[in-house]
Amino acid sequence: MFNDLSSPLSLLETRRSGKAREMTTPGPDARQLRSILEIATRTPDHGKLAPWRFIIIPDEHRKTLENVLKRAFLADKPEATIAETNAMCGFISDAPTLVVLLSSPKRESTIPLWEQELSVGAAAMNLLHAAHALGFVGSWITAWPAFHNEVRNVFGNENQRIAGFMFIGTPKGELQERPRPKYEDVVSIWQGEA
Ligand SMILES: Cc1cc2nc3c(=O)[nH]c(=O)nc-3n(C[C@H](O)[C@H](O)[C@H](O)COP(=O)(O)O)c2cc1C
Repeated sequence: MFNDLSSPLSLLETRRSGKAREMTTPGPDARQLRSILEIATRTPDHGKLAPWRFIIIPDEHRKTLENVLKRAFLADKPEATIAETNAMCGFISDAPTLVVLLSSPKRESTIPLWEQELSVGAAAMNLLHAAHALGFVGSWITAWPAFHNEVRNVFGNENQRIAGFMFIGTPKGELQERPRPKYEDVVSIWQGEA
């Protein structure tokens, strides 16, 4: 609808995710990644609690993280084959850049947990938009490791949860658009009280 690609609305309208395994270099450099993460923190946050943490996984530790996943996976499924283990864990080494987004709520706050978790989702979305605005593609994946305590424990504590593995890179090819919900299916006009 907004065809001027330099306009902010056009940027919002054209963002879409790419698959991490279909990303290549370059990813954002250190300065670009800092911008992306600073923009991600410019997110509605009731009570100014900053209930999110961003953990950058440096290149030299990507394999270590893959091994953490393999350890957790095999602890649950010791009979898994090497091929199955690789298939379930290898994705974490895809894409040039990986940021782990943690939900880090302040339990002692009067702000409901739900609101704090919504703020984490908003931060994730801002991250994806900022990556897109810089010409990269992003992907927000949870998959099984986001729900595995042993994986969470290498990043945070029992009060925290992995909200997503945020992959960023350059798309290898043209991104496929996915079906979007029909406007009429998700938007309605309140008719007032009967
Ligand atoms: C919280 C969250 C977790 C997700 N986890 C996965 C996942 O584990 N595997 C997957 O294939 N897609 C997952 N997705 C969906 C991808 O991000 C998907 O590619 C995206 O919804 C595509 O829509 P977009 O093009 O508007 O970004 C997840 C989405 C969200 C919001």
